[in-house]
Amino acid sequence: MPQKNFSSIRRKLLRWYDQNRRDLPWRRSRDPYAIWIAETMLQQTQVATVVPYYERFLENFPTIDALARAPLRKVLALWSGLGYYRRARNLKLAARIMVRRHAGLLPTSYDDLLALPGIGDYTAGALMSIAFQKPYPAIDGNARRVLGRLFNLTSEKKLRAAAAELVSRSRPGQFNQGLMELGATICAPMKPCCPECPLRCDCAAQNSDGRVATTAKKYIGVKAVTWPLAVVRRRGKILLRRRSTEGILAGLWELPGGELGASRSIRACLESHLGALNGSLKFGPRIGELRHGITNRRIRAPVFLFDVRPETDFHLPELHSRWVSPSSLRGYPVSSMTLKALRIFAAHEKTFL
Ligand code: ADE
Repeated sequence: MPQKNFSSIRRKLLRWYDQNRRDLPWRRSRDPYAIWIAETMLQQTQVATVVPYYERFLENFPTIDALARAPLRKVLALWSGLGYYRRARNLKLAARIMVRRHAGLLPTSYDDLLALPGIGDYTAGALMSIAFQKPYPAIDGNARRVLGRLFNLTSEKKLRAAAAELVSRSRPGQFNQGLMELGATICAPMKPCCPECPLRCDCAAQNSDGRVATTAKKYIGVKAVTWPLAVVRRRGKILLRRRSTEGILAGLWELPGGELGASRSIRACLESHLGALNGSLKFGPRIGELRHGITNRRIRAPVFLFDVRPETDFHLPELHSRWVSPSSLRGYPVSSMTLKALRIFAAHEKTFL
């Protein structure tokens, strides 16, 4: 790849970024902590979803010290709905390490960043370039697609080498965000808008045969499943249970329910999840249905409402179950699917939340 192309690509991209960048809250901040929070949220979540979470998170935990001291439960509660909860746990762990070993600051070397929980190659590169203005590449999915098309590369090693050489020495943070921005807005996976691209004249995919190579999506088998959920109500409170501290959505609170096995009815499935409560329940009406996607599942979740007679005496079905009042519901870290089901319930009740 000729060097002169590199400097012209850099210039064009930075000019385009200056004129077209979206005004996003973390781009108004120079605080490395705020940038770290944003980049962590952006790892697996779309910009539009991240914005309100980012703002709420920083209002509640404005500094590394505040995050290090915060109860994990509160951190997870503020993360509820963003998914990939390990990110929130790692943020808190890393904040504690920063307080202990780095004087309460984000470390400023790539290797020290990489040594922290939850910080991989991408985030370390993003922080070095955006927070500390050091010329490190930061290759997320969008940047990878742009670079792959621009230089006709598929090998990860070559992509990394190209990104490291291409990154602007004077404005590395803006340059990296420019690559991501281009991928997010113009160099889209399926229908790129090449006439508007500032790099169209330099692009290998454009120049080869007038058509743009689309990046093949890795195929992950997605299974369609039914996952009935129960809103169980007693004396104005509803039943939540806590997931195990291992495995997916570890430690989050959720409504009883679960994936429907091949030969079971919805009723049998919910009854098995409600265990000892069954005797005191009347199988309630179906109050709605939600759709939810997780890594390899496309979930359809019908939501049922159960009332427990207030005078009934019984033990909670599981050790980690609790009756939760509407006013304290917000303090519980709940899974996204439960959040959606609670909204259905709120719409049903109008007054509950
Ligand atoms: N995705 C990852 N990092 C980003 C950033 N800084 N701005 C917009 N989208 C991003």
